[in-house]
Formats: sequence, structure tokens, C-alpha cells
Amino acid sequence: MTKELPNIAVLGATGVVGREILNILIENDVPYKNIKFLASARSAGSTIEFKGEKHTVIEATPESFKDVNIVLASAGGSTSLKLAQEAVKCGAVYIDNSSAFRMEKDVPLVIAGVNDEDLKNHKGIVANPNCSTSQLMLVLKPLDEYAKIKRLIVSTYQAVSGAGLKAINELTENTKAHLVGMPYENDAFKYEIAFNVIPQIDMFCENGYTKEEMKVTNETRKILHLSENVPISCTAVRVPVYKGHSEAVTIEFEKDITPDKAREILENAWGVEVMDDVDNFVYPTPRHAADKNPVYVGRIRKSIAFDNGIDLFCVADNIRIGAALNTVRLAQKVIEMQLY
Ligand code: A2P
Repeated sequence: MTKELPNIAVLGATGVVGREILNILIENDVPYKNIKFLASARSAGSTIEFKGEKHTVIEATPESFKDVNIVLASAGGSTSLKLAQEAVKCGAVYIDNSSAFRMEKDVPLVIAGVNDEDLKNHKGIVANPNCSTSQLMLVLKPLDEYAKIKRLIVSTYQAVSGAGLKAINELTENTKAHLVGMPYENDAFKYEIAFNVIPQIDMFCENGYTKEEMKVTNETRKILHLSENVPISCTAVRVPVYKGHSEAVTIEFEKDITPDKAREILENAWGVEVMDDVDNFVYPTPRHAADKNPVYVGRIRKSIAFDNGIDLFCVADNIRIGAALNTVRLAQKVIEMQLY
């Protein structure tokens, strides 16, 4: 029997990702019965315009989830730790953008179009992967299906928008100050981000990697169901770019795979667009990927470091595929698969 259309709530509707979720709900024409806009007490009572109508923002409390079937949450880890179970108690499926539950056994970690079947195992909470992991999955999944990943090395060049509105403003103000020779007191980043790159995203772990780097490692393994025997290593770097994460990726495969074959596989892959013609200087850059949905891939070449190796460069809008777009796509999958 087909279920009634769901009531949905956007938690964190006033934030950078929340606002993008609202845009994509409209773009993707997501079906629902009712919609609610939730945020902190700070913005309760303010209004949000959605589909030409003004809606009042409601404070997110345990009671606010009554009658809600699907929550699209992007309000930070501590809010999710406080509220996710409350939403689940009310019978909602809680699609979470934070890292709070990603590695929990009972929480599917899903990229729409990559491991949708995992959604069937949800116990109320579904997690959206880290932004750097997300774009990588759409590229790696079809290659893994063909040639099986044996080893993976990733270096990220991450935009400041991944660190929120404060970080975006800091890049602007820091750049202005630097250009006129004024001193600047950095706050969002450990060092000045203008005309600089910073090889630290999040805190350091005991093994010398950062938490961001270990997220890419652990989440990739979980989503692609890779065994512990597949070594994965990541270096995550913040760069002075507003939007669009870039990643240099080296993959060693079990089976031989030529660059032409990899190109052909990626040309046919869902959510991926190949931009790869070095004779004509065609390859993706963050400027190109900003505000667009695909993950762009270029510089596909045979790696000279491994026998069955491929090197490539991929770029995507970190706020879209890395957060809001996948959250909305997950909600669409939950609706299509009647999992609410
Ligand atoms: P608010 O605007 O009321 O602070 P960003 O990452 O862009 O700063 O957005 C964070 C989002 O999460 C905002 O919508 C913010 O609401 C919301 N938020 C932050 N803390 C809470 C909380 N304790 N309860 C509900 N929503 C929260």
C-alpha cells in the first residue's frame, strides 16, 4: 500500500546548508504534505520565505517533531546528539548532516545512488557523509565495481565554506587586509587563510592524522564496504577558495584498468561529469563546479606509482553534493523506498 506523503521538517533551516536544502527541495520538486522550519531559540519567530510564502521559524524542541515523518537536519553535532533520538521517538526518520552518528553500526551512512540499499537497515537515523567523502564516493563506486580498489591515497584542497559563514567572511576580510598591508587577526582558522594553504582541518588524532582525514578514511570504507585490508590514506588541506572542494586521488586496483576504460566508466556514471581533455586544457576547477550538482573529474591518467593504478582529480560544490544535495536526495530515496 502506498503511504501518505510525509510531513517534513528542516532543522537548521536558517544556516548555510539549511538554506541550500530549501533551494534544492524546490529544485528537485520533493513531494510532501506539510513542511516545518526549525532552528535555535535565537531565530524562533523570524520568517523564512519558501515557495513564495512566508513561514515562521520554530524553535527545535522534542515536541516540535510531533507528526513529522522526515527531518532534514543540519544544525551541528551537539544539536543532533540532543534532538535526533527525540525525533525518532516521535516516529521520524532523522537524516543527519553532522558527524555525530556516522560511524555507528545501526546508522546507515549513505550517498544517494551509491549505497541506497543500506537505507533499508535504518533504525530511525540516517547519516550524510563528510563533504570530502561524499564527492569521492560517486567517482570511486563505479571504478570499484569494475576493478576493485586495493589501495587509496587522497589529498584534498577544501574550500572555506565547509567551515561555515564565519570562515567565508574571514577569507574576504583577510584578503582585503593583506592587499592593503594591514595586520589581520585570524579566528576561524589557525593561520591566515588569505594567499595561504593550511594543512590542518579539524583536530589532530593520536596517529598524526586529523579528524577530517580519518573521516574520509573511515567513511569511505563504510560506504563502499571495503575490507580492513584496503589501506586508505588522506591529507586534508584548507585553501583560499570560497566554494568547491578539489581532490587529487591515486587508486591502486586489483584488476588492470586503463585510463580510457576509467574514463568510459566515469562518463556513464550517475552524478559524475568527465572534463578531461588536456590537449585543450580541459579539466575541472572549483570555480567551474560552484553551484552545480555533478562531481567533475579530469586528469585521468595511468599512475606511474602503482601497477594497476589510476590518478585523477575531482571537484564538486561542497555545500551541494557535500551536504545539502545529498541530504535532499536521501529524503527523496526514503520517500521513494517508503522507508518512513
Ligand atoms: P540559528 O540560526 O537559530 O542559530 P550554520 O552552520 O550556517 O551556522 O547553521 C547552523 C544552523 O543550526 C542554524 O540554522 C542554527 O540556527 C541551527 N542551530 C544551531 N544550534 C541549534 C540548536 N541548539 N537547536 C536548533 N538549531 C540550532
